[in-house]
Amino acid sequence: MTIAWNPETQEWHLHNGRTSWVLGVLPNGWIGLLHAGAPLAVGPSYAHLGPSDFAGFDNRVGEPVALALPVPGLGDFRVPGLVVEAADGSQVVEPRYVTHRILPGKPPLPGLLPGTYVEDDAEADTLEIDLRDEPTGLAITLTLSIFRDQPIVARSVHLKNFGGAKVVVRTAMSATLDLPDDDWNLLTFSGAWARERFPVDRPLVPGRQGVGSLRGGSGNEHNPSLVLRRPATTEAAGDCWGIVLAWSGNFLAEAEVGPFGTTRVRIGVHPDQFAWPLEAGESFTTPEALLAWTDAGLSAMSESLHELLRHRMARGPWRDAPRPVLLNNWEGTYFDFDHDRIVAMARAAKDMGMELFVLDDGWFGRRDSDDRSLGDWVVDRRKLPHGLDGLAREVKSLGLGFGVWIEPEMVNPDSDLFRAHPDWAIGVPGRKRTESRQQLVLDFANPVVVEHIASAIIEAIASAPIDYIKWDWNRFITEPFTPTLPPERQGEFFYRYNLGMYELYERLTTRFPHILFESCASGGARFDAGILAWAPQAWTSDDTDAVERLKIQWGTSFAYPLSSMGAHVSAVPNHQTGRLASLDFRAAVAMFGAFGYELNPTAMSEDDLATVRRQVAFYTERRDLFQYGRFLRLRSPFDGDGNETAWMVASPDASRAVVAHYRVLHRPWPHRDRLVVRGLDPAARYAVTCWDGFGAPMPTVERGGDELMTVGLGIEPPDPMPAGADADGHREVRGDFRARLFDLRKVEG
Ligand code: DGJ
Repeated sequence: MTIAWNPETQEWHLHNGRTSWVLGVLPNGWIGLLHAGAPLAVGPSYAHLGPSDFAGFDNRVGEPVALALPVPGLGDFRVPGLVVEAADGSQVVEPRYVTHRILPGKPPLPGLLPGTYVEDDAEADTLEIDLRDEPTGLAITLTLSIFRDQPIVARSVHLKNFGGAKVVVRTAMSATLDLPDDDWNLLTFSGAWARERFPVDRPLVPGRQGVGSLRGGSGNEHNPSLVLRRPATTEAAGDCWGIVLAWSGNFLAEAEVGPFGTTRVRIGVHPDQFAWPLEAGESFTTPEALLAWTDAGLSAMSESLHELLRHRMARGPWRDAPRPVLLNNWEGTYFDFDHDRIVAMARAAKDMGMELFVLDDGWFGRRDSDDRSLGDWVVDRRKLPHGLDGLAREVKSLGLGFGVWIEPEMVNPDSDLFRAHPDWAIGVPGRKRTESRQQLVLDFANPVVVEHIASAIIEAIASAPIDYIKWDWNRFITEPFTPTLPPERQGEFFYRYNLGMYELYERLTTRFPHILFESCASGGARFDAGILAWAPQAWTSDDTDAVERLKIQWGTSFAYPLSSMGAHVSAVPNHQTGRLASLDFRAAVAMFGAFGYELNPTAMSEDDLATVRRQVAFYTERRDLFQYGRFLRLRSPFDGDGNETAWMVASPDASRAVVAHYRVLHRPWPHRDRLVVRGLDPAARYAVTCWDGFGAPMPTVERGGDELMTVGLGIEPPDPMPAGADADGHREVRGDFRARLFDLRKVEG
């Protein structure tokens, strides 16, 4: 059991040897957070870490008391975790301890809220603390689950009106975390379309700082995750917290430094444009937040989140399965394709060793451009005279899997669906609806709409042998409103929209369990922990330029595993940047993810086709490492002038690894350089083979794990020196866009 309760001290201690959380019932019945972070001995009381004689805030207004559920209006003037409006309009509630339960395992969240789970009760223990505010009749359950194998606590909050007059939930954070000091840097992951999840790192300052989304989806602009690191924490060592929210809708993730130098973090559904009335007997549950702590540095923090998200958030047969190398036709053809063109591309893909063909946007209605047909999920026989079925069968007869693109939550005004049901598109009656990409968003808060789309999509999918679905979402929500809710419940709209989207995912994944789902939203606008419950991988970004992808994939990897990051090699000049990176460089970047190509192979030279064949073989031979290995960040593309990046994957038993070093621009007379790697066995010898491009590798050399993890791998000059190179290795290593992959295998015996 990883949760201890001491009735004498009234303290709970959640512990697993890698982290500890100590909570206690304060004298006034509130729940204090006495400690969270480093593992502490179980047994002693930690009451001294909290307030000694807490009796409210009399004469001590604003004292930095660490609380598990901060509420406003009682003397704590920092950001609250819970704001509930009583029937009289006041916003003062005082949740006091009633009872608690300690349960083996982890009960599922209600309804369709995505959450981590266990396969065996021994994997986690759960503490449920019941609180009550008697005057309003509000019951609150704080749920904290600690995992046996990861230094992670999952938290959610359940609210129920147990019989009082109506109350309105104005703010319900999934988690708050009160820390005793402010000596932290905050990292958030921000950007824009085609520039997602660049880490933004700044020291905490007094006041509030953070990110959020009010777009109806998690968004390209900010990610529902944050990291706190000590100023001295590096990738390899030091304290840090990694916090993610399992939710794909509006969110807030922020930290506040108070006047006494304490830090309060909170994460959850964004309180703006949110209000949830609770009539007597009604309840509301927040999404789940995951809070990971380590003193072993940022890569270790990421690793623990990766493990949990890929094995205990993702579900279904694809969770642990090797992900196929695919060819997607989007950048290869855009809307301009037909049956024969696709079959020719698929044949070339097969010839290069790829395993799945994905037919992107444009196969339905009369969709020759992005201004029509969304909502009409009927195959376009002009382009595909043999139907989806005929195409899928022909592609599959080549020995490839077959996938299709859908964007089920959208409708174009120029569509049969919109002409029949204009009221199904989101908008405020009497007001103009804002179009974006010539499309409107369907009202997924309306179960009738979800039902209709579910039937149409199920019919389309069932009509053909489909193995893979790319589910896109290409605009944000404006004029939020649903006619299905009364005026006083419109604050539920965004939350209900998101649940409607999850409902459709649930319907499709239940009906077609064999299908691998990839989530996508204008690239990476819905890359969050929640969506992984149905789609174990997501399209990371519409920017396929390899230099930009180094940054995007680096930032994405703080929370999300490589198996979840769709990464494709595209043609040059790159369609987003015009850059002409080498084919080898492009592939060496995309391999650190769920690998594929997004180009027209029928337009490629024989030389390039042969190179791709070698790349695919290289990847598939090491796929388990790339998709499920330990991912360790070594050199950041955000450091210095960003000319270099390095990262690696290693098997959990340290017997194999692939290390990648990327240099964007070559500079004459480079300094000598060795790359210190991690994740190996210091006592072992490794056979090291360097691939400078995907031609013949350099001769294999043997090096010690200790040497590689202290002195490092030879990068400049390369180790071993290429045949014919001069003393500085220059002959072989000049040129921009150079990627070196080092294959490391433990030498047995
Ligand atoms: C946006 C996606 O991110 C692209 O990959 C592509 O599927 C287009 N939509 C299709 O419209």
